[in-house]
Amino acid sequence: GAFVIEVDLLIVGAGEMLTCVGPTVGVRQPSISDLGIIRDGAVAVDRGQIVAIGRSAELTDRFAAHSTVDAGGRLVTPGLVDPHTHLVHGGSRHEEWERKVTGQPLTGLVTGIASTRAATRATPSEDLRADAMRNLDIALLHGTTTLEAKSGYGLTVAEELRLLDVMHGLRHPIEIATTFLGAHVVPAEFADRRDDYVRLIIDMLPDVHADWFDVWCDPIAFTPSESRLLLKAAVAHGFGCRVHADQTGGVGGTGVAVEFGAASVDHLDEVSDADLRALGASDTVAVLLPGCTLHQFETTARDWRAWSRRIIQSDAVVALSTDFNPGTCPMLSLPVIMGLAARLYRMSAAEIWLGVTLNAAASLRRADRVGSLVAGHQADIVIWNVTDHRQVVNRFGYNVVDQVIKAGQPVVRGGMRL
Ligand code: NIG
Ligand code: FE
Repeated sequence: GAFVIEVDLLIVGAGEMLTCVGPTVGVRQPSISDLGIIRDGAVAVDRGQIVAIGRSAELTDRFAAHSTVDAGGRLVTPGLVDPHTHLVHGGSRHEEWERKVTGQPLTGLVTGIASTRAATRATPSEDLRADAMRNLDIALLHGTTTLEAKSGYGLTVAEELRLLDVMHGLRHPIEIATTFLGAHVVPAEFADRRDDYVRLIIDMLPDVHADWFDVWCDPIAFTPSESRLLLKAAVAHGFGCRVHADQTGGVGGTGVAVEFGAASVDHLDEVSDADLRALGASDTVAVLLPGCTLHQFETTARDWRAWSRRIIQSDAVVALSTDFNPGTCPMLSLPVIMGLAARLYRMSAAEIWLGVTLNAAASLRRADRVGSLVAGHQADIVIWNVTDHRQVVNRFGYNVVDQVIKAGQPVVRGGMRL
């Protein structure tokens, strides 16, 4: 053409380019079959942003790039978004897990959140930070470019603030949305004065710097009425909300999340029909966690296909996440999560891809910037060593990421961190 525009980067020759375009609140059925695929796709990037999306022939005509990457017929997608992790923690619970797997008694072992809380408290901030950085690298190598990270293994004012400090000190290509989860569980020392712990969390809100507030509304954590008090205070302090709900039992946590306009409600194992109706009519995103389903092996006997259909058919916006944490899913690979969503939940490849791109971004209210390939959005892009998006879901347990570009910068190439 007559006018050639100079750009930093041109990616051409994508056999399949998934744009994952949709409304910023996310897509629901029946639109969740449409990934906005462009054949022989290309993307032009300048100053960290996507300038244009189209066919290779068209973009090579319109743009002259300082550097060009030929995808050679392979798959190109948005960078993946992981909307639920407990990134910062100390210790490892492999012994607890092995005993559970093999049916040995847990006697003499401190287990669960209490055990990770103790291990976290015993870990200096520098070490927590170094561990978190290593874990972010692992996520990045598997295609994650945006990730939500929660506090919640401190459960005292000082420790919760320390964990948030560690998160805010992370400098990594992955952009992080921070969540305050002081209301993870009621710590043992407050067992017979639960109200005092709820009050303590509410009173510390003015000192909390985080993008989100989260509470676990569950038979073994906070009751719906305690959760309401916490969420009401959080909203009054200007926090957006996320809710861990109905994981070990149905207590109406999903309904509470919708009531407070939460951006996400996560787990949903025991969600009621009434709550699902409310969810389907709302913009609260249902975040499903198949790694957690797999790891809590004692709960996997149910019909998870029927369960996931029920949630998708409620009209809810559905996202997927690792729930990376030492107890219920010590695993950071979203492609593995995608494989599990197919195998355990029997979700389609399109539902799964939208669950880790646009819909996950919607659950973080960042879909105007990340989670899809659209002109004007941030240039977060993954080039895969496969030619069809269904292969990422279907090839299980090894990494098929070739290149990752975050905000226009190459950060992974040949599967290696740059
Ligand atoms: O998301 N649901 C609550 N919290 C975590 C588990 C935490 C743990 O076991 O350490 C979860 O599954
Ligand atoms: Fe969680």
